[in-house]
Amino acid sequence: MSSKQTMQLLPVLVSLALLFVGTTAAARKTTHLKFYMHDVVTAVPSSPATTAVRVARGVTPLPLEPAIRFGDMFVIDDPLTEGPDSASPVVGTAQGFYIFASQTDFALMLTVNMVFTAGPHNGSTIAVLSRDAILDPVRELPIVGGTGVFRGATGYGLLRTYSANSTTLNAVLEVDMYVRARV
Ligand SMILES: *[C@@H]1O[C@H](CO)[C@@H](O)[C@H](O)[C@H]1NC(C)=O
Ligand SMILES: *[C@@H]1O[C@H](CO)[C@@H](O)[C@H](O)[C@H]1NC(C)=O
Repeated sequence: MSSKQTMQLLPVLVSLALLFVGTTAAARKTTHLKFYMHDVVTAVPSSPATTAVRVARGVTPLPLEPAIRFGDMFVIDDPLTEGPDSASPVVGTAQGFYIFASQTDFALMLTVNMVFTAGPHNGSTIAVLSRDAILDPVRELPIVGGTGVFRGATGYGLLRTYSANSTTLNAVLEVDMYVRARV
């Protein structure tokens, strides 16, 4: 092909490329998922069994709460339910860990896969890698990927503490996910 022919073809190629990008973008949509996460550090008669287990003990006590130490790490397999009540229908589980990652504040590094086990997203997962400053009213959860219908997902979540008990350290967390994927 001569360079003149190439030049004549260029607008066509550019249009085709734009069309392709447009189609790809249109095939992705944002899905809003809302559910509740039950983090049970201490099993008590009124709560489900323990779902968060401390597997590593830090060294430096936090200034505001010496019972918690910088470096404490918990592995979690927290049930996800439709509503805030632990008896509400289960939609999945949050599997991963959190670490007290600040030497001064209640700031966790929260790394979890939201694994869906019921409903339209059964078998799919969303991967979250986040900073969870637990006293903040709203924390943002960056979505770093996903599997199944959420393969290649992007987007974010919002995490709010629905209820927490300072004695047992058990908490119910409200999660809103805005997932962008080809679903
Ligand atoms: C979720 O998918 C698994 C595997 O396909 C299946 O065994 C299970 O019954 C499904 N659960 C629900 C609640 O649909
Ligand atoms: C926290 O949990 C303890 C143990 O189950 C319970 O006695 C106490 O009432 C709870 N506190 C709140 C504020 O719910």
